[in-house]
Amino acid sequence: MNYIKALENPIFKIIAQASEQLGHESYVIGGFVRDYLLQRDFKKDIDIVAIGSGIDLALKVSELLPHKPKVQVFKNYGTAMLRYKEIDIEFVGARKESYAEHSRNPIVENGTLEDDQNRRDFTINALAFSLNENNYGDLVDPFNGLTDLENKIIKTPLNPDITYSDDPLRMLRAIRFATQLNFTIETESLNAIEKNKDRIKIISGERIVDELNKILSTDKPSIGFLHLYKTGLLDIILPELTALNNVEEIEGHTHKNNFYHTLEVVDNICPNTDDIWLRWAALLHDIGKAPTKKFNKKQGWTFHGHEFLGGKMVKKIFERLRMPLNNKMKFVAKMVMLSSRPIVLSEDTVTDSAVRRLVFDAGEDVENLMTLCEADITTKNPTKFKKYHNNFDIVRKKIIEVEERDHVRNFQPPISGEEIMEIFNLKPSREIGVLKEAVKEAILEGEIPNEYQAAYEFVLARAEKLGLKKVI
Ligand code: CTP
Repeated sequence: MNYIKALENPIFKIIAQASEQLGHESYVIGGFVRDYLLQRDFKKDIDIVAIGSGIDLALKVSELLPHKPKVQVFKNYGTAMLRYKEIDIEFVGARKESYAEHSRNPIVENGTLEDDQNRRDFTINALAFSLNENNYGDLVDPFNGLTDLENKIIKTPLNPDITYSDDPLRMLRAIRFATQLNFTIETESLNAIEKNKDRIKIISGERIVDELNKILSTDKPSIGFLHLYKTGLLDIILPELTALNNVEEIEGHTHKNNFYHTLEVVDNICPNTDDIWLRWAALLHDIGKAPTKKFNKKQGWTFHGHEFLGGKMVKKIFERLRMPLNNKMKFVAKMVMLSSRPIVLSEDTVTDSAVRRLVFDAGEDVENLMTLCEADITTKNPTKFKKYHNNFDIVRKKIIEVEERDHVRNFQPPISGEEIMEIFNLKPSREIGVLKEAVKEAILEGEIPNEYQAAYEFVLARAEKLGLKKVI
């Protein structure tokens, strides 16, 4: 079949011309071809395979381009990259590869196109369009990748045991593509992933997280997390999550399965946010429940302090997976720590002071927290479901009202410590802290508005009780 239409971009003619001048063939391969055939958006990434040196081809292409773009050469891998009109074009020489047991770095030999297609991860990623004059635009598909695309199947060109063991990252890629494209992973592949799961340990945290982020960015991440769970990968990557997958019963009391609940929450939040960190917060919001779970006759199952512990666990996970330890991590930890607050609010009568405290603690992130907590409502009881959502609407309205009146989102005390010291001629002391805290409490409780005069009068009254005298 011919796909000359896919090659409209003038860069393909230039690559073809460069290959011809070098006297070897070249092909577009991988994601570009797959996504074109799936009519997915073009990701501004093109992979070219040269039946010869990929580096030479890249250098020749640069020479033929008017602006002579810089060519980045990766000698060790025999690859080169250049940028053309915001498109990253990667060139690789066709190769035969085998991998050493403990490394992702392959032993490489020159090979034919078919050798190269063989060593790729999936049949749908081994599809190539020819850039050669005699068959320009022809699809080269030795493993029936097109049929697999049509049947929505993730399958490896070689025995999956070899493909996954060669490069264990591919186990995550299989699951990621299945989630992104809503494809089925062939049973042999799933079995091979299960068998090779421990080899994921040679993959760096950064690369693992890259794939997890891609899974989390889809419309239904639960597809990927269920695959990760069933193949045993999740237990290696995020054991904090698999620890939630149990239901115990004591004296007729059970608790919900917090693993499946978590997956529901993650799916629920997706239509309401594209923020990957808020999605991470949804994924991790209950991780403190496994280590805090207890049973007592009076209350049944409890998870006291799970939010606090969960917040602490977020940092450990980020460290272990080499994720950024910056304000993104702090945001996720904060969301986890506050994750029960709005729901507790919504179960009860919603008071102004509780809302004010929530806004005070969540600050700028109060909207995100509300989004997380609404996704957390997974009750199958329609009456409760309706009640919680109604109460959330009340909470949202009150947040706006309380904010307009009291501005506690980025709380700054209306009266400063220095001023209190001046009024009573005090040196820095415990009393200042006590008075400042009392002002904050009075504002949050709604006893006084968040204004200077009210705070001033409140401080005077409080100070009198402490036996302090006003000097100015
Ligand atoms: N590839 C592979 N094994 C890997 C990574 C990549 O065989 N572990 C091959 C596949 O043929 C893939 C191509 O290299 O199509 C390009 O890889 P990459 O750019 O990472 O992925 P894409 O398939 O382009 O898709 P995406 O950008 O969505 O990751």
